[in-house]
Amino acid sequence: MICPPQDQIGEDKALVPRAGMSIDSALLTYCDCPSIVIDRQHDKDEHMKPDIPKAKLGFLPTPLAPLGRLSKFLGLRVLIKRDDLTGLALGGNKTRKLEYLVGAALAEGCDTLITGGAAQSNHCRQTAAAAAMTGLDCHLVLGGEEPELAGGNLLLDRLLGATVHWCGPLRKGEKIPEIADELRRKGKKPYIIPYGGSNALGALGFVEAAAELKSQLDAMGETASDIVFPSSSGGTHGGLIAGAAAAGLRARIVGIQIDKGEAGDLPFANRVLEIARDSASLAGIAASFSNRDVHLESGFTGGGYGVVGELERDAIALLAGLEGILVDPVYTGRAFGALVKLAQAGAFGSGPVVFWHTGGSPAIFSYANELTVNPAGS
Ligand SMILES: Cc1ncc(COP(=O)(O)O)c(C=O)c1O
Repeated sequence: MICPPQDQIGEDKALVPRAGMSIDSALLTYCDCPSIVIDRQHDKDEHMKPDIPKAKLGFLPTPLAPLGRLSKFLGLRVLIKRDDLTGLALGGNKTRKLEYLVGAALAEGCDTLITGGAAQSNHCRQTAAAAAMTGLDCHLVLGGEEPELAGGNLLLDRLLGATVHWCGPLRKGEKIPEIADELRRKGKKPYIIPYGGSNALGALGFVEAAAELKSQLDAMGETASDIVFPSSSGGTHGGLIAGAAAAGLRARIVGIQIDKGEAGDLPFANRVLEIARDSASLAGIAASFSNRDVHLESGFTGGGYGVVGELERDAIALLAGLEGILVDPVYTGRAFGALVKLAQAGAFGSGPVVFWHTGGSPAIFSYANELTVNPAGS
């Protein structure tokens, strides 16, 4: 990022400094770089309480577009919401959550972002990009062992300047508190972003996104019957439930469960419900939710998280071949495969169905073997 020199910006503006420098002056001001606006107003967003800080990280609204050839193929009208085009280091759904989470980190005067996930985490890659944009350090706590050659999201984490901590079988940021303590002992002020960015604050990004979709549908003269997307740590899903209630978006919100439940985990639907309630409360939305509001399709988890099977392979090839759009092997490929199966089973309303493309394309490159129809050597 190349910021203009401090003396070339007006009195009411200041650079958000790099990590290690004071950021006090940046809190209520902004840099001329399009990336960094600490927006405390939300004046134009009637669904949001006015005093929640937000860092402007993405290019929003994302497009909503018809998928003509796919619709013909399925005999059902399908629209696509392109959150793969949010712009933050190859885009994805986490950009929306990070706008609030990084806004809080800057407002609290933190100098470091710390989060965790799988080795190919899209969330971690976008967090690394958000840190670079806002002049913060970034520590990523990743599952697995360091590979000889970094590919996909991991390569991008490195290019974006993140420090990576490898944690073997722990891929959900379990070691974050330990690493945050170590950073504090070294005089740093870390801001902890939870696994997947999925807490009430992060989910506000999807409370807003529901309103964004509603106004796009209204402008097109459409009323969607179903909204389909991958659901993994629950923030996208919970935020959409809360936001849809506030925006009067009446479509069925259908999360495709990505992870198999692990022993000791709470039922995932409970977590989604909790996030919906907490984000609604944070946004000042007067609505109550029950289990009936959480629609989760849990029959498509295949071989488990990150295991590519026929469903994902076929889905990636179908959307690429019909529409020239890429979905990823872990999240959007699985969710789009589920959409096709559910459409063929007549499980949706009258349409249009909105497929929410939540991103993930960098992971494609680290799954080359699994995605090749005749893998080398077979
Ligand atoms: C590309 C992509 N889609 C969907 C999801 C799931 O979103 P959520 O964690 O909010 O459930 C993720 C989570 O990492 C993701 O990377």
